[in-house]
Amino acid sequence: MPSDLILVETRQQIGTVTINRPDKLNALNAAVLGELETAMQRLGSDAGIRAIVITGAGRSFVAGADIGEIANASRGTLQAFAERGQAVFRAIEQTRKPVIAAVNGFALGGGCELALACHIRVASTKAKFGLPEVKLGLIPGFGGTQRLPRLVGRGPALRLILSAEPIDGTEAHRIGLADLLAEPETLMTTAYTLADACMANSPVAIARASEAVDVGLDLSLEDGLRSEATLFASLGDSNDMREGTLAFIEKRAPAFRGN
Ligand code: COA
Repeated sequence: MPSDLILVETRQQIGTVTINRPDKLNALNAAVLGELETAMQRLGSDAGIRAIVITGAGRSFVAGADIGEIANASRGTLQAFAERGQAVFRAIEQTRKPVIAAVNGFALGGGCELALACHIRVASTKAKFGLPEVKLGLIPGFGGTQRLPRLVGRGPALRLILSAEPIDGTEAHRIGLADLLAEPETLMTTAYTLADACMANSPVAIARASEAVDVGLDLSLEDGLRSEATLFASLGDSNDMREGTLAFIEKRAPAFRGN
């Protein structure tokens, strides 16, 4: 069910999820997080959807977790809060369809962490990325201390986490936090063009490749290679693999069925 807080639009096999609480710069309160989780579960299990783009309404992507919900929280509440956000974002990361963040404005705190949980980030030159939690006497709690150093390396991650200073889209692109950079007016078309490129490929292979990267990042190289070989071999049972290789040999475009 569509709600006011999260808008879902589906077009040409792409699901667009818009976080829609612009008066609070799309800050993630419990309701927004719940609706986001539901929307992502629905799109993730919808066979008619092949890629998902997440963006924000208005001038913000997401300006973080809702500070009002944290202000008086006890240790136990903070623990539950972090675990809840982490679970929602981990599920997004484990979606076996490409999930692209189209970062239109503020991606601060939980917003930056949401972008980090997406598979690929497209940033507007007007975007502002940052992890300002230490300014609030907090630390990133929705995965920022773990995903950011894995993505950009320890030094650039600690620069953002310890200084709490935001960086713009251009700088985010320079350090590898954003994968693609676009002017604000071409942000969504850039994200959709990227989604289209992914969708031209085998959905089964996309799912397995995504799993290989996700699983492998936490393994030793040896274990990661073993995991890759197993996932590679599993495609021997797929029609898409037969179709993709045959289409190449027959010099025609493949018609993937996603099985
Ligand atoms: N939680 C709750 N409310 C938030 C919020 C957040 N993370 N971020 C913004 N808002 C609210 C503001 O309180 C304000 O609400 P109000 O109009 O009822 O007062 C509204 O969104 C607009 O924000 P405002 O601060 O007036 O806009 P601005 O352009 O002056 O500043 C930011 C924009 C993003 C720099 C500023 O809102 C900010 O620093 N937000 C917090 C970012 C943060 O620390 N995130 C990590 C949280 S753990």
